[in-house]
Formats: sequence, C-alpha cells, structure tokens
Amino acid sequence: MRDVHMRDMFASDPARASRFASHAGPLYIDYSKHRITDETITLLLALARARGVEGWRTRMLAGQAINTSEHRAVLHTALRGSGPAAALAEVEATLKQMRTLCAAIRAGTIGGTAGGAPQTRITDVISIGIGGSDLGPRLVFDALASRRPSADLPRVHFAANSDPADLDDVLAQCVPARTVVIVISKTFTTAETIANGRAARDWLGAHAAHLIAVTNNLKEAQSFGVPPQQVLPMPEWAGGRFSLWSAVGFSIMLGLGEEAFDDLLAGAAAIDAHFIQSPLHANAPVLLALLSVWYSSFWGAQSRAVLPYAQRLALLPAYLQQLEMESNGKRIDRDGLPVGYATTPVVLGGVGANSQHSFHQLFHQGTHLVPCEFIVTHPADDERSRLLAANALAQSAVLMQGDAHDAAYPGNQPSTTIVLPALTAHTLGALLALYEHKVFVEGVLWNLNSFDQPGVELGKRIATRLLPALSGGAVPVETDASTRALLARIVKA
Ligand code: F6P
Repeated sequence: MRDVHMRDMFASDPARASRFASHAGPLYIDYSKHRITDETITLLLALARARGVEGWRTRMLAGQAINTSEHRAVLHTALRGSGPAAALAEVEATLKQMRTLCAAIRAGTIGGTAGGAPQTRITDVISIGIGGSDLGPRLVFDALASRRPSADLPRVHFAANSDPADLDDVLAQCVPARTVVIVISKTFTTAETIANGRAARDWLGAHAAHLIAVTNNLKEAQSFGVPPQQVLPMPEWAGGRFSLWSAVGFSIMLGLGEEAFDDLLAGAAAIDAHFIQSPLHANAPVLLALLSVWYSSFWGAQSRAVLPYAQRLALLPAYLQQLEMESNGKRIDRDGLPVGYATTPVVLGGVGANSQHSFHQLFHQGTHLVPCEFIVTHPADDERSRLLAANALAQSAVLMQGDAHDAAYPGNQPSTTIVLPALTAHTLGALLALYEHKVFVEGVLWNLNSFDQPGVELGKRIATRLLPALSGGAVPVETDASTRALLARIVKA
C-alpha cells in the first residue's frame, strides 16, 4: 500500500465510500478515507481471528478474570445490562441506592432530618475525583448540560487537581448548607482526591452530613466520615476509566436527571449489543481497532488526532487520552514479554474548527503520519452550524485528496468520520461505549492487559517520598541532583 494514493482508489471505485462504512446503534462511521483495500481488511480480520478476539470477548462477558495482574473480571458492560447475573444484581442494587439518595437530595432531606433539622434545598453538587473518577462525568455533564430538563436541578461542579485553585474556585461559588459533596475514588487512597475531600469536608463544617462517597473501599469512606447510607459502592470489576456508567456518574443523575442517566446507559447498551452480535467484518469497534493497529504497528504512526467538531465535546480528547493511553500504553504483553511492535499511539486532539486554526498545518504539510478522527453531528438550522460541518468534511477531504497539482499538499492522510444524528445522552453513551470496545479489541490484538495501570504507581511513591522536602524536611538520599536543585529553588522561593 506504500505506493497507493487514496485519491486513485476513490477514482477507480465509485462504491468505495459506501463499502467502507459501518452503522452501529445511532452512529454512522465512514472509514473509506484510509489506506486500505478489500485485501487489507481481509488480512486485518485474519489477524483479529488469529488473536482470538471473539474468544476474549466471550471471556470478558462471562466475567472471567481477564485483568490478570489484578485478578479481576472486566464487566463495565454489566453497568449497561450485559454480563453475569451476579454482576447485574450488584448493578441493580447500586442503581436503587442512587435513586433513593437522589430523591433525598431533591427533597432536601440528605443526612436525614434527625432532630428536626430543617430541610434545605440543595442547589449545588461538587464532584471531587481525578482520572476515571472525574473525566467521564465531567465530559458527560459538559456535553449535555444545555439539555438539563429543569432549572430546579442542582448545578454540578468538578474539582480534580490538588492545586488549591481547582477546588477553591468551586467552593467560592457555593454555600455549605445548600451543597452536596461527592468524593469519588475507587481506592479511596488517591492523594489528590483525599486532600481535596478533606478540604471540602472542612468547608462543609456543620453540614458534613452532605458528604457522599463513591468507592470500592467502603471501610475507608466510613472512617473518612461519610454516613454509611451515603457511601455508593463501585464494583471492583469496573476499571476507573470504564466507570462513568456506575455510581461514579451519580453527579450526572443529580444534575441532568435520571432520564438522562438512563438514556446514556441505553446508548451504551445499543453499542454493547452491536459489539456482541455483529460478525467481525461488520463490527465497528473491531474495524476501528484494526485500523489503529494498521497505522501504529505497520505504518509506524506514533500519534492520532481526535477532532470533535462539536463545542460540547471539547473534553472528549482528554477522556480518550486516559481511556486509550492508560489502557494500552504498554510494552510488556500478557505473558510478561516485550511486545516487539508499537502499541497504542499518543492521543492528541482538540475541538474543531478551532483545531484548524491551531495545529492542522502539521496534518496537511508536516512530516508525520497522524490518522485523524472527526466526530460530527447533523448541523442545526443555523449558518454557523453549517459552517462547522462544512469545515469538518473539507478537512477530511483535503487530507485525503491533497492537491494533485501542488506537491505541497501530498494528501493521502487517513481519517475516520463518525456521525452522530445529534448530541444526546443516547448518542453520547453510544460513542463512548464504541471507544471502550475499540480499546478492548486493540488490547487483544496487541496481547496486552488493558485493565491495569502499573506505570503510574512508581511516580506516586516518589512524590510521597519527596513531599516532606517541600516543607523544609530532609531530601531523600536517592534524589537525583536535578530534582534536589529544583527542590532547593522552589522551597526557597
Ligand atoms: O493513578 C491512575 C488512576 O488509578 C486511574 O486509573 C484512576 O482512574 C485514577 O487514578 C483515580 O483512581 P481512584 O478512583 O482510585 O481515586
């Protein structure tokens, strides 16, 4: 394929665009602007079969411990209704607890009305968490906030960073008596979250009964001071970056309403059904994963660009950076051996059309191969919306065609275009589930455990060891000279 130009493949095959397209739930996926022929797809599908994609899919859905390093099942699909009965029962019980707590917050009786405490209308929810305990709910809320069914629903704020500016700016907008604080941490040990949780708990003061926890570590949450009936469990088989569908998404239920949360789950369930039932050659997550492997492991592409042409999806690239890079940014395979090929690329991106006025120059005339992914919705009846759509289509067209009369525009730059009819809870749920299953299939193809994240642990340990030195304590003896000099500089400052 090195000497084949996509321009020529389109010219010689008028049916190309319809042949390399996929329908999955409410999504339409055009993957015709790729360096592929029928033979390419045939060979890639053979790779999928050789790697046992279908067998791994069965094992995942059966609840087998495919997260081998942590001896855990991987059952985020159970949060949308697909999985073993025991997991489904666990999900139902937590959903019931979420709805009950949601009703209490709406009624202003959270923390009970013991001793005739006055009912207070809750006007604000602060969601404290980081990584998978933040990025999903934050993205969903950002995407759908304009669709809030009623102004009576509480405002939702997010704080993740231990930089005091993050949480303090939120606290300044709220009043303890009318605010609920949700501390989200699967382990309930993440330093940033616990530090922010403590600050928020102190800020609540006499209203500490407005504390809620979402965690797999119920014991820690209770010793933190969260009333037991306000600790929402996170199942151990839902990885953090796959967890927005669990009680991690409680802020979505509170701030957007139960119907929106249910619609989000339903959209994901539609893609689960597609992924479970579709044969490999018509399976959108499988095709996207195969294209990812094609460019990373065969063409040497070291990055990929996620370009949502929708302002309310501006946080999608950040969400996918964790989902993809924390899942498959690995070099050791399931058998503990070095992989010997490139695995997941660096995920970059930004909201279109802003990205065109920022970094698309490199895509058109740079020296790197950067497969792009455009996410577009049907334009609203508004000239600005039509301009946005026209730009998205023009970018993918020009990346593919280049300019046959101007070598400065080589073209042949691959892209996928994913079309959502509109941005709703249902279509967003479908889009995010599509990516979850793509990541799962990539991991199978690269023979990786996509569900642990050992690489982030050492940095946490070093930070803990350095912490005392930040307040004048001893610098650990093993500290390198650069870090030592930096410590001396910033601590003095
Ligand atoms: O450190 C990485 C990580 O464990 C992510 O995988 C996770 O989403 C995030 O930190 C937060 O973890 P927790 O939900 O346990 O606080």
